[in-house]
Amino acid sequence: MTAVSDQVKTPVSIGVPRGGPAEKHLRSDRWWLQPLVTFTILTGFIVYSTWAVFQNANYYVGASLQRNLLSPFYSPCIANGCPQGSQFSFVAHWWTLSPGILILVFPLGFRLTCYYYRKAYYRSFWLSPPACAIEDKHKNYSGETRFPLILQNAHRWFMYCALVFNVLLTIDAVEAFRMGSSGWGMSLGTLVLCANALFLWLYSVSCHACRHLCGGGVNRFSEHPLRYRLWKVASKLNKRHMQFAWLSLVFVALTDVYVRLVASGAIHDPRFF
Ligand code: FES
Repeated sequence: MTAVSDQVKTPVSIGVPRGGPAEKHLRSDRWWLQPLVTFTILTGFIVYSTWAVFQNANYYVGASLQRNLLSPFYSPCIANGCPQGSQFSFVAHWWTLSPGILILVFPLGFRLTCYYYRKAYYRSFWLSPPACAIEDKHKNYSGETRFPLILQNAHRWFMYCALVFNVLLTIDAVEAFRMGSSGWGMSLGTLVLCANALFLWLYSVSCHACRHLCGGGVNRFSEHPLRYRLWKVASKLNKRHMQFAWLSLVFVALTDVYVRLVASGAIHDPRFF
């Protein structure tokens, strides 16, 4: 056994100021890979979704193609210009721009204030810090107690809105079984919309605020068996929240891509029955 006096001693400074010199950290692994991947995927999603909601076209496949497929970026379609068949029962007649912009704030607010995404983008965009045991690139941190980060506390309210959106997207998925005048059926587009709704439910139900909604504020679970069961389910799913966050994010964009390609005539939506 090596004597303590023979071991190589690595100088470590405790209490290095925030934003200290890069050579202070001791990590020799590829710690930069995860923030880089996160940055790349999130930037790609932001660029694509911004482009998609401003297109104001090819977001709905209707009766002319014997389908009923609405892109999740445009659901619910509540603007005056929504194509026939896609329009929601409530219509904002005063809105003349893309319907996607009108509803964007709710899913965007939900993702931006998500506890997992906060960690992801604080690290990858703000480098604050980029990884564990790596120097923070910001000298000061005022926490989430001041504007604008105090808005992160609105997460639970965005979660309530997200649940409403999930119901609407589930209705869209059911509606996708309607094949225009040829009655009910199933196409690849139907399956895409169903999978999208499922992944969004998994992401929302695994949310920390949803878990709190199920079991928070209960002193004795024995007196609330239903809430206990819901809390157990939410807790189980919560362990996979990060995976559901990425899965639902990527898939919601892919769903829009699919609907867009079918609506523009670039591809055909195969019907199974
Ligand atoms: S914590 Fe991620 S959605 Fe609520």
